[in-house]
Amino acid sequence: MRITVCCTDTKADPWLAGLRAAFPSATVENWAPGAAAADYAVVWAPPQQFLDEQPQLKALFNIGAGVDALMKMRLPAGAAVVRLDDAGMSVQMAEYVSHAVIRHFREFDGYEADVQQGKWSFRKPRMRADFPVGVMGLGVLGQRVARTLLQFDFPVRGWSRSAKTVEGVRCFAGEEGFEAFLAATRILVCLLPLTPDTEGIMNRQTLSRLMPGGYVINVARGGHLVEDDLLALVDSGHLAGAMLDVFRTEPLPAGHAFWQHPKISVTPHTSARTLREESIAQIAGKIAALESGQPIATLAGVVDLNKRY
Ligand code: NAP
Ligand code: GLV
Repeated sequence: MRITVCCTDTKADPWLAGLRAAFPSATVENWAPGAAAADYAVVWAPPQQFLDEQPQLKALFNIGAGVDALMKMRLPAGAAVVRLDDAGMSVQMAEYVSHAVIRHFREFDGYEADVQQGKWSFRKPRMRADFPVGVMGLGVLGQRVARTLLQFDFPVRGWSRSAKTVEGVRCFAGEEGFEAFLAATRILVCLLPLTPDTEGIMNRQTLSRLMPGGYVINVARGGHLVEDDLLALVDSGHLAGAMLDVFRTEPLPAGHAFWQHPKISVTPHTSARTLREESIAQIAGKIAALESGQPIATLAGVVDLNKRY
């Protein structure tokens, strides 16, 4: 068996070492142009040349949860695309989103500013019933986030493509459920995959439908948000602010209005990082399952190439 690792923007060596340890008798190598045909590939942002030179791959393992970048490329015809299925990301996402929701709801930025001025001041307690959180995307990450927010007694709504039942969460589905979902949401969390259907989904029209004083938490992809529309709605006062982890252009360009905006917090695409050991263990487990004859369709995280996630 031959496994090729092909990563840009991340070091290949630790992945090679982990996969060699998992499969001592396999050939595990870093890709170089003209490399021998491999059975499996472990990739992050591979060049098109790699995909074109490896038409026989059985599976491409993406070392992230989102496959939007891969879906824009020409893929080997017979290869399944397998994304990370949690692999330690959902707890990180639950931490990040809980932090953002609680920081906003409890007005911790306001307290911080008061403390900077040596002010001992109280704010009127807010009612969590007035701050329903709506999670767009009830997949691996969205469901973990929704369940975590319930632990803090926030009213939680969820929206997905197909109908879901998540205990304690008011679930909406499909285009027909979208308006009602937005109208029932004050703090909006985006955990959708970026696809042609979800590109620009947070725009002036949709964000205007949130309850007044809405707040936006984008932890999915920058392409989900129309940045100027968000700025206009925050500046007009319809939205109270936003916490954003992902951007149309990353790194966020110097001078971008988000950097210094008093109502917008930014982080550098770090809400849920790929954890190498967990991810290698997950990918190695799936390769072993395939080698022992398990049908690929039964693996968690296999991307539906029609839906593009
Ligand atoms: P997932 O398990 O595939 O879940 C995706 C969810 O989105 C599903 O509930 C799906 O509905 C829903 N969905 C997809 N298209 C939709 C549409 N058109 N309308 C309504 N709902 C739609 O994905 P995941 O593992 O939770 O990850 C979600 C995304 O998070 C990734 O794609 C990635 O972009 C992002 N992410 C970001 C970071 C970061 O650090 N910022 C880290 C990891 C992941 P169904 O259940 O009906 O299919
Ligand atoms: C990170 O953004 C991922 O998709 O895993």
